[in-house]
Amino acid sequence: MSPGVYADLRAQRECWHPVSFAAGLGAQPVHADLLGEPLVLWRGRDGGVRAMSDLCVHRGTALSLGSVNGDEIVCAYHGWRYRADGRCTAIPQLADPARVPAKARVAAFRAQERYGLVWVALAEPCWPLPEVPELADGRWAVVTAGPYSWRCDAARQVENFTDFGHFPWVHPGLLGDPERPVVPRHEVRTEGHVLHYTIVRPEAPNSDEFPIFANQQAGPPERRSRYELHLPYTIVLRLTWGGERGMVYFFASQPVAADRCTGYVVIGRNYNLCQDDRVIQDFEDTIFGQDQRVVESQRPERVPFDLAAELHLKFDAVAVAYRKAMRASGLAADAPVGHDVHGPG
Ligand code: FES
Ligand SMILES: [Fe+2]
Repeated sequence: MSPGVYADLRAQRECWHPVSFAAGLGAQPVHADLLGEPLVLWRGRDGGVRAMSDLCVHRGTALSLGSVNGDEIVCAYHGWRYRADGRCTAIPQLADPARVPAKARVAAFRAQERYGLVWVALAEPCWPLPEVPELADGRWAVVTAGPYSWRCDAARQVENFTDFGHFPWVHPGLLGDPERPVVPRHEVRTEGHVLHYTIVRPEAPNSDEFPIFANQQAGPPERRSRYELHLPYTIVLRLTWGGERGMVYFFASQPVAADRCTGYVVIGRNYNLCQDDRVIQDFEDTIFGQDQRVVESQRPERVPFDLAAELHLKFDAVAVAYRKAMRASGLAADAPVGHDVHGPG
C-alpha cells in the first residue's frame, strides 16, 4: 500500500453508520460488517435494535448463527446466552449456569433505527443523524432502493453520488443530457461537518421507461438540487422543478471495510403517490449499476484525500470541499506505509 491520506477507520468509529435496512432485520439475528468489525444485529423483546460483536467469547463462533430468546441472544454452538449490553448471563455446561465468569462478555455498541435503516456507532458519536422531516411526513411516499455493495471505499461511492460532471457520460438520457455537458456554477459552503450546495442543472427529459421525475416545463428540463453532505458518508438531496412537487434523496454509505462499502437509498416524494415502488427501484438499480463499473475501476480504491492527488478543476468544487472537510475533521489522515487495507485501523 502506498502512503497517502485516506479515510481513517478508527476516527469513524465515532460516527453513526447504516448497517442494514430495518426491514431486513426480523426475528433472526443478522451479520453486518462495519469498519472491518464483524457485528451481529438483532431485535430485543421491545423490537428495538441491538448491535454486538459477532464473536462468541467462548470459541469465536458467529453469534449471528444463533437465535434470539426474549432479551438475549443464544450462541448456536454451546448455547451461551448474552444480554444486549454484551454480558453473558448463562453457560448451560455449568452445574450452576448463572455462575458466569466476569470475563464472559462481548462488546456491545449503540444502535438505532431511523429512516428505514439500522444505524450503529462503534464509539460515542460526535454528531447526530441528519434531520429529514419529509421522510417522517405521512403525506410523502417513501421507497427504499439498494443495498448497493461496491468494491471501493465509502468515500468513492459518496463522491460519485455528488459528482456532476459524469451525468451525461454515465447516465445519458436518464440523469444527464449529452448535448449539455457543461457543469453550471455552484458554490460549496461548509458548516461544521455539513457541506451545503445548490445547483440548477440540465436534466434529461423524463423517459417513458422511468417516468419518475416531476419535470414538465416546455424546453430543455432543469432540475434544482439542494444538497447537504453530512460527513462522512450521508447525503440529503432535495429536488424541485420550480413547482410544488418535491423529491428527497437520502443516501448513506456503510464503510464495510477500508475498500468495501454498501450504499442505501431512501427516496421520498410528494407526487405520483400511487406509483409502484418497482419503478423507482428499477431506475436506481440501473443508475447504480452504471456507476458501479466506473467507480470500481478507479485506483486507488479509496479516495486520496491529499489535494495534490488526482486533478481537480473548478467544476469539481464539491470533491475539493469534501476532501478538505474530511481532513479538517480528522476523518481522513495519513496512512502509514504498509498499512493493511483490510484492517480496522
Ligand atoms: S462458541 Fe459460543 S457458546 Fe461456545
Ligand atoms: Fe452516477
